[in-house]
Amino acid sequence: MVSIEKFIDGLCSIPEQDFTCDNVYRFIAGNPIDVDSIAPFFFWSKNFYTRNLIYRDERFELMALCWERGQVSRIHNHADQMCWMTVPLGKLRGQNFRVVEIDEGKAFCKLEETDTFDLSDCLAAKVELEEPIHQILNLSEFNQRAVSLHIYSKPFEKCLSYCRDTDSFKEVPLFYTSISGGLSSFQSLSRKAIQNSSLPKPFSSVVCTASKPRGRKYAVSSFNSAMPLTFIT
Ligand SMILES: [Fe+2]
Repeated sequence: MVSIEKFIDGLCSIPEQDFTCDNVYRFIAGNPIDVDSIAPFFFWSKNFYTRNLIYRDERFELMALCWERGQVSRIHNHADQMCWMTVPLGKLRGQNFRVVEIDEGKAFCKLEETDTFDLSDCLAAKVELEEPIHQILNLSEFNQRAVSLHIYSKPFEKCLSYCRDTDSFKEVPLFYTSISGGLSSFQSLSRKAIQNSSLPKPFSSVVCTASKPRGRKYAVSSFNSAMPLTFIT
């Protein structure tokens, strides 16, 4: 097991020309994270999974995503960036999709499920650039919280989100729930946006808590926050 500090040092020490999909995947697979070292970045919400920035530079960003039982991401892509993930706590299902039909001018896109994969116990995965559309799910049947670590290179602030009910897609902005263990300022920004939007009232205020895994409290820092406009893994 390695601490998050050593994990970040290791990633930063990879030479630019070697920061490839396969090399970073091998690095993640060979360096399982000590969960206690990332506990300060855990924030939980009953209404949505949370995106918590641990480290960011010009080359990559590293995030911990915290999933309550039953929470799922939107179907999304990763803006043509390289992406990797590992699940140090709990278990997550990945569902990949392929494009059956697309008309970009009309924001129309019909998707079809392809393969699925399950991640737990620090197993590593990478987003295949040939088939980059996917969804991450903490299925109710898994019956537990989960935490996933995500590395994106380069960092990106928007991506495409797909709706299968309407066979449509749109570009959406991305936000952090917390940055370096502290709630990010978007909370207040998005609260303002929510007040001016038509989002249903139950989404206008939620309570998040920061806690250590397996029920051990890290910090009793409940807070009120607005529903994030978009959360993407
Ligand atoms: Fe993703």
